[in-house]
Amino acid sequence: MNQDELKKAVAQAALDYITPKLERDSVIGVGTGSTTNFFIDLLPSIRDQFSGTVASSEETARRLEKLGIPVLELNDVNELVVYIDGADESNPQLELIKGGGAALTREKVVAAVAREFVCIADERKWVDILGKFPLPVEVIPMARSYVARQLVQLGGQPVYREGVTTDNGNVILDVYNLSIMEARKLETEINQIAGVVTNGLFAQRPADVLLLSSNEGVRQIRPRYS
Ligand code: A5P
Repeated sequence: MNQDELKKAVAQAALDYITPKLERDSVIGVGTGSTTNFFIDLLPSIRDQFSGTVASSEETARRLEKLGIPVLELNDVNELVVYIDGADESNPQLELIKGGGAALTREKVVAAVAREFVCIADERKWVDILGKFPLPVEVIPMARSYVARQLVQLGGQPVYREGVTTDNGNVILDVYNLSIMEARKLETEINQIAGVVTNGLFAQRPADVLLLSSNEGVRQIRPRYS
């Protein structure tokens, strides 16, 4: 299977996974990225089984609305039964790196609200140790240089993602050369740097289940606790 076929397979598996959990008043959190886009494209087929969605980015909101799926403000919603989103890397604890699409902050907020976070990915994203994929950090623009210096102190090599402004009006630093052994600790440390909005480590709130597609099919993986 090519990459798109693997993404389509895992999107279908996500739809099958969540459908029994839905009630007519359920609201679904919807992430951002090419894998999630395949999931969004399947949502019209179960349109009568949930009430609406909360989007983790403007791009996702536009795509949902185009398909006639209601998009609600997170502030108007008490509970998200489930959150579906991709990842750039996952380790066996289902700690993730996210933010390749620059939507990390809203993704983290939506994941925090959701009762269950279902991550969808293909096997290229599965790693033993996080950090080969550069870690995205969302930073308010005036703090960019200061935050970059602090990230160097932590052992990383930050690179400014040129030409990208997040949905929140901020910039992204991609941090190379991190070998992340203690993801929860690093997530906290980076978030404490003044000027950081958030970073793309999802370790304090990892995924609850990972649906991982390969040529052998889609595996359902639960976190391995270390
Ligand atoms: C968006 O900001 C990211 O967190 C995406 O979820 C992640 O980059 C995965 O995207 P793809 O499904 O396009 O690989």
